[in-house]
Amino acid sequence: MRAFRLAAPTGFDALTPTELAIPKPGHRQVLVKLAAASLNHRDLSIALGRYRLPSKEQVIPLSDGAGTVVETGPGVTRVKTGDRVAGCFFQRWAGGEPREDNQAYALGGSLDGMLADYAVLEEDGVVPTPACLTDIEAATLPCAALTAWHALVAHGRLKAGETVLIQGTGGVSVFALQLARLMGATTIVTSSSDAKIAEATALGATHTINYAKEPAWEKAARAVSGGRGVDQVIEVGGAGTFAKSLEALRTGGHVSLIGFLAGAATVDPGLIMARRANVQGISVGSTEMFLAMNRAIAAGGLKPVVNKVFPFADAPAAYRYLQSAAHFGKVVIAFS
Ligand SMILES: NC(=O)c1ccc[n+]([C@@H]2O[C@H](COP(=O)([O-])OP(=O)(O)OC[C@H]3O[C@@H](n4cnc5c(N)ncnc54)[C@H](OP(=O)(O)O)[C@@H]3O)[C@@H](O)[C@H]2O)c1
Repeated sequence: MRAFRLAAPTGFDALTPTELAIPKPGHRQVLVKLAAASLNHRDLSIALGRYRLPSKEQVIPLSDGAGTVVETGPGVTRVKTGDRVAGCFFQRWAGGEPREDNQAYALGGSLDGMLADYAVLEEDGVVPTPACLTDIEAATLPCAALTAWHALVAHGRLKAGETVLIQGTGGVSVFALQLARLMGATTIVTSSSDAKIAEATALGATHTINYAKEPAWEKAARAVSGGRGVDQVIEVGGAGTFAKSLEALRTGGHVSLIGFLAGAATVDPGLIMARRANVQGISVGSTEMFLAMNRAIAAGGLKPVVNKVFPFADAPAAYRYLQSAAHFGKVVIAFS
């Protein structure tokens, strides 16, 4: 089978095409023939040697992929040959509270990932693809969509009529916009690009703010919420935006701490207390959350925003495109 390995965490030129034997599924594992994979910011960090956690040497990269089960190992009962499935970012977080060892079973990091024609996955580490989605669309769900769902629903307990402030228009943020809309929330999307703001508006964003032109976007967001403050913040900036997110938040609101795109800053815990803020670090999500999200996607007919599709052989170009931040939504690699 075709695969890429990351020869060393030294950049995208280290992505090395290789031929490997098709792996065999073991006890309670399945062999999935992958049709598509998608990229996340984490994949850039891993390839560039900037990820906060160590990765397997010579790892097959990418956490996200979807395809069809072609073989099942002994003891498999939940899925069968021919089922269309997507892999779960954490192969052994079936449900419940996060576990200390989640990261030991993260695809494209501690474990080989999805940039290969086939992957052996745990039976509890795959979920059925909603019938309304193509494999290319399903390949966008495992990290970005599930992180947004975990933040909005599992952590934030989002209710219709609430207001969500969403930073940026990358993979996580565009899913947060779509899911928040699906659930009847008011959305405020920030972006550095007027062209992307137009795309967010077309996708149903209630309000938009260009954070490059409006550095006091937290005040603008607060004003848009009628001065009350927003109910939830999808925080992808991290330290560099966290204080502003708290300024925009209503008393007792939720901040989901997801990303670290905006550099470093000092955080004042006093503001967390003053806002009585619920601040939750989010780490993707469990298989149980993924199944719940897929039910919502199927019920609401949500279509992931696929910005650009690259052929398998051009995987390094897909990485470069994601790094350019020209995308709105998801960048995908199609295998045929
Ligand atoms: N904790 C988790 O489980 C988890 C899961 C997934 C992702 N993440 C993290 O979340 C972040 C986003 O990931 P992704 O895959 O969605 O990335 P992505 O698709 O590469 O998104 C990049 C976008 O983020 C926006 N952005 C950058 N700096 C910003 C800032 N200062 N304020 C507001 N928006 C900003 C930009 O939007 P505009 O171009 O519109 O300005 C940019 O295009 C990354 O840090 C990633 O590591 C964490």
